[in-house]
Amino acid sequence: MPREALEGVRILDIATVIAGPWGAGLLADFGAEVIKVEMPGRGDAFRGMGPHKDGVSMRWPCMGRNKKSISLDFHYEEGKELFLKLVAKSDVIIENFRTGTLDKWGLGMDVLRKANPDIIVVHVTGYGQTGPYAKLAGLGTPAAAFAGMTYVTGYSDRPPVSPPFALADYIAGLNAALGTMITLYHRDALKGTAQEVDISLYEGIFRMEENFVAQYDLQGKIRERSPMPSGASCPIGTFLTKDGKYVILVCSTDPVFNHLCDAMERPDWLPKYAKAKDRLADPNPIMQAVTDWVASYTYDELTARCNECGVPISPVYSIKDIFEDPQYAARHDIVDVPCEEFGSVKMPAVFPVLSETPGKIKWPGQKIGAQNEDVYRGLLGLSEEEITALKERKVI
Ligand SMILES: CC(C)(COP(=O)(O)OP(=O)(O)OC[C@H]1O[C@@H](n2cnc3c(N)ncnc32)[C@H](O)[C@@H]1OP(=O)(O)O)[C@@H](O)C(=O)NCCC(=O)NCCS
Repeated sequence: MPREALEGVRILDIATVIAGPWGAGLLADFGAEVIKVEMPGRGDAFRGMGPHKDGVSMRWPCMGRNKKSISLDFHYEEGKELFLKLVAKSDVIIENFRTGTLDKWGLGMDVLRKANPDIIVVHVTGYGQTGPYAKLAGLGTPAAAFAGMTYVTGYSDRPPVSPPFALADYIAGLNAALGTMITLYHRDALKGTAQEVDISLYEGIFRMEENFVAQYDLQGKIRERSPMPSGASCPIGTFLTKDGKYVILVCSTDPVFNHLCDAMERPDWLPKYAKAKDRLADPNPIMQAVTDWVASYTYDELTARCNECGVPISPVYSIKDIFEDPQYAARHDIVDVPCEEFGSVKMPAVFPVLSETPGKIKWPGQKIGAQNEDVYRGLLGLSEEEITALKERKVI
């Protein structure tokens, strides 16, 4: 039996909501032992977030999957002591309190390092650990606005539109997982020192905006709102087929445009429009011709033609379409996971897909403190009486 890819890595997930916990969850999917630490009685604020079924979070089974759940209140001295014992036995802490909160509780970096000089600490905040906004509260949707994404999303004659889900949070989570892996590699494989990883919600989005940055820098041009990544490729857009289906068709590269010319039987567009810069200099005739061409086909006819010629095209899918699609089915992208709350619930499968040590979903999100015995007794060696006393005093 192959070992799990992250077997032997222990992560303390003391974060809440999406970004930090989701990042820790990505690593739990590949065998890291993730111990989720939550406020006794109250738990992660994410548990209260919608959508709900009969008052119960439908997202928790997925968000909490593969993690052990323990309760612990950092406000108590005993809570801090217990936490430091866990730190001594762990590799990584992922936290997302506002900058300064851990220091306020007497759990600053010096204290954490004293407990374990090799501990890697991943901080997730709205604006990072430094700068004038370091201590401000942050959430993903405002962070997308701060990152310049909301400004450019939507139509130029209408108000800006936020991403339809917590994109900045998930991207921050992905970067938290990446930062964890980079620092683990540096610490363990290269025998380097343990580090802190400083993740903000906005910088993950901003890091993807090299085109806006370069355009503003070199041409003083401010990228304005448009429903597509305009100015990068032509043709690009949402088009409507003869049978009323929206498709997205994009020619990001010149060879793909060449394929489109084949599909549309427009050899006359080459060589005049062979280069993106020439198409972008006067995109309207091409966009109109593509609009008319798409409208002359049913969706099935159009996709057959595009696929035959190597033109990337996609229908605009709802979640129902996704549930019914054979590609998702063949890749087992949707997994039905048994859970106490709903009997079972479907969730996105583990991703990325590894050939030798694929990740797996072992269990869904647990109840607050479900693994208190396992962790406090099994890992820290506390007695039954000590655990009961900590519970009575609401430390755990
Ligand atoms: C999410 C956020 C806005 C919440 O702000 P907040 O409620 O003021 O919380 P703080 O960051 O100051 O953290 C302290 C609070 O954590 C809570 N908490 C969560 N787990 C706890 C635990 N195990 N023990 C003690 N307190 C805990 C307490 O309510 C505590 O508040 P209190 O000391 O006043 O009782 C803030 O934490 C933040 O900006 N985080 C960074 C950005 C981020 O990750 N946002 C979420 C993206 S998905």
